[in-house]
Amino acid sequence: TAVYLRDYQPFAHCVDQVELTFRLAPNSTRVSARLHMRPNPAREGRHDLRLDGEGLRLIALMLDGRPLDATPDDNGLTIPAADLPGGPFVLETEVEIAPEANTALEGLYMSNGMYCTQCEAEGFRKITFYPDRPDVMARFRVRVEGDAPVLLSNGNPMGAGPGWAEWDDPWPKPAYLFALVAGDLRAHGDTYTTASGRQVALNIWVRPGDEHRCQWGMDSIKRSMEWDERVYGREYDLDVFNIVAVDDFNMGAMENKGLNIFNSKCVLATPETMTDDEFARIEGIIAHEYFHNWTGNRITCRDWFQLCLKEGLTVYRDQQFSGDLRGHAVKRIEDVLALRARQFREDQGPLAHPVRPDSFVEINNFYTATVYEKGAEIIGMLKLLVGDDGYQRALDLYFNRHDGQAATIEDWLKVFEDATGRDLSQFSRWYFEAGTPRVKVYEAWSPGAEGGVYTLTLAQENPPTPDQPTKGAKVIPVAVGLLNPNGDEVVPTTVLELTKPVESFRFEGLATRPVPSILRGFSAPVVLEHDISTETRAFLLAHDTDPFNRWEAGRALSKEVLAAMVAQGAPVSRHWLSGLARLVRDESLDPAFRALAMRLPSEDDMAATLADAGHVPDPAAIHDARGRMSDALAAELAPELPGLREAMATPGPFSAEAGPAGRRALANACLALQTRLDGGTAARAAFDAATNMTDRLSALVSLLTVGQGRSQLAAFEHDWQGDRLVMDKWFSVQVLHALPDALVDTVNRLTARPDFTMGNPNRFRAVMGALSANHAGFHHASGAAYRLLADWLIRLDAKNPQTAARMSTAFETWRRYDAGRQERIRAELSRIAQTPGLSRDLAEMVGRMLG
Ligand code: ARG
Ligand code: ZN
Repeated sequence: TAVYLRDYQPFAHCVDQVELTFRLAPNSTRVSARLHMRPNPAREGRHDLRLDGEGLRLIALMLDGRPLDATPDDNGLTIPAADLPGGPFVLETEVEIAPEANTALEGLYMSNGMYCTQCEAEGFRKITFYPDRPDVMARFRVRVEGDAPVLLSNGNPMGAGPGWAEWDDPWPKPAYLFALVAGDLRAHGDTYTTASGRQVALNIWVRPGDEHRCQWGMDSIKRSMEWDERVYGREYDLDVFNIVAVDDFNMGAMENKGLNIFNSKCVLATPETMTDDEFARIEGIIAHEYFHNWTGNRITCRDWFQLCLKEGLTVYRDQQFSGDLRGHAVKRIEDVLALRARQFREDQGPLAHPVRPDSFVEINNFYTATVYEKGAEIIGMLKLLVGDDGYQRALDLYFNRHDGQAATIEDWLKVFEDATGRDLSQFSRWYFEAGTPRVKVYEAWSPGAEGGVYTLTLAQENPPTPDQPTKGAKVIPVAVGLLNPNGDEVVPTTVLELTKPVESFRFEGLATRPVPSILRGFSAPVVLEHDISTETRAFLLAHDTDPFNRWEAGRALSKEVLAAMVAQGAPVSRHWLSGLARLVRDESLDPAFRALAMRLPSEDDMAATLADAGHVPDPAAIHDARGRMSDALAAELAPELPGLREAMATPGPFSAEAGPAGRRALANACLALQTRLDGGTAARAAFDAATNMTDRLSALVSLLTVGQGRSQLAAFEHDWQGDRLVMDKWFSVQVLHALPDALVDTVNRLTARPDFTMGNPNRFRAVMGALSANHAGFHHASGAAYRLLADWLIRLDAKNPQTAARMSTAFETWRRYDAGRQERIRAELSRIAQTPGLSRDLAEMVGRMLG
């Protein structure tokens, strides 16, 4: 039962106002709703009223004060047109639900004795009968009754007393932005004054005992508010902004109006419990959810096919924000690493789909890297094509024209066309066609008396994806710079617009044949195919003025070397070693950049690269070669490692800002190499001396990587056994760094512990996410890890379909591997597919993967 974009129709009725009353009880919560409705003038004629509703026990139903007889079906309630008046009416319902029994963590559920909600995308229908679709926007007034000391909902507080609280949200919103939280919570409070002088009360609500973990989150909120005012001219629009930390949560966080709900992992932080990467991630997620207030809430999506309208734009905005705060070069490299690891992987397999899909079975399966991250890349390309001024005019127009509306991708593109005069019909293919374009590069040089002419020919290919065998040429912005052979830039960054299948671009008046630096800043999400020599890559690694491409040259070189080692048994290349070592030593470069350059391609990335080049990847061989590469780098840098680590020390009080975090990243990258040489002496000392989680966990991982660290694992457990978030790391690193032969036993040992639970998605992901991320172990030729994961997905699916479906993407790359592995994975996917009572979520995913 798929839903199709082409079937869209406006809802036949409007909801002007919603009044909700909750009487909370773990197994019998009563929800009373008064919906003030009228026929939608956009739909002619008289229509039945269809309300969504799932798992609700209907207690009472009244229309304009008179009882009405209607029987709900499995997914809602229909009131025949004949029973409805021709004008406005009030529909009242009362239902009973059982939050305690809700293990899917969608709708109203309980986490550690606390009530909380998750309604996006279609969870509100598990709370009350309602038109649960984003184009129905209404004002909500909410009364919460319950014995919890803190009772929260969206909007502004309208009064509270013992056992009750009332909230009013003046901004019309779709039901997916509704939220309610009730529990014994403590606030970390602060205030913010907006540019126009509105005083906003800020609170981060946590369980008692977690109050001291909120400072970084609070700083992040204030930075986000200030940034959105300064860069996008967007102010906050309520008297309060609340964030709540919840332990059991299916995703990272949720932008409910005025009441953001966060996975506690994505908001709580102290230097002792969280790593630098996690601090940066928390800052980015807080910004993301806050930015949704304008891009998502004030302007929302007409239907779920338009999800990228809010997600792509909001990811783009949070990336800009993090780049401004923490450095654009490093941020861009990290974003591209993630894009390739998740989105390219998705686009190149059976789950490929357009950024704006045109059908789905379960919308929760489309909160993907494609919708989010490729959606953000499209906006970056648009900005590059229309320029910074054009982008700003377009965004101003977007906010003016569509404030208060539920909009579409067509609306979004129209705003750019109207603001800049540019025709975007060809560009729009980026939204509607799946797959990663491939761009081939050909060079030609003709010397001449007046200077030579250099011609760059670019050819694009748009490979087939499920349901889209052929597709048109894309508009691809290719940022290019030219260097002369002694390393000076002779043509600064220029954006070439590739719009045809093949196109040539001429550069005249050049004294010597230049070396091109192509796709600077990763100006488009494409695979670039450029046959250049190892020497040229090494030259770019040494001289490119574009930091992204400088890193990219090193990356490409590492992949070539590793591919040659795996496929041909080649030795570690001297070229690569000396080029990389020079960069690591270069004190003029940002330590964070040097640390990134030292990071070798992941084994999954190498498997993808080899498959792409027509080889069948051998996971064990990749694992071995990558280890030898690390050993060689360690040997090359051996004399300098201790000194480098010392030079990168960060004395004084801990700071999570980019500067010190980058120094720790470089120091810990050196420690990992040192551990390959010294039998673990330095890492053991570093583990004992560590005063923050970054250093402590890095030391532990360095030891695990070389098959050591038993006593450190025990010490870590002893120190942190009462802390769920820290223990997640303890579970995860053991699985991630288990030797391939020991992986299944490691997982079985951990899942037998009483503190392993399927009820907490963080804990489940800590183990099962690491199981599939341990590439050589997961793809062990025995197939034992495939079977183990499938067993757990089947088990989890019965409780929490959304997370089970999400984690099944571990299998999406199955066609890359040899016939034996393919057969084993296919058998597991079929076994899942045949499980009686399988959820719609997981059924859709395995169905698509089996093809
Ligand atoms: N809108 C939320 C965010 O981007 C994520 C919601 C995810 N919902 C889901 N059903 N997967 O921050
Ligand atoms: Zn989002």
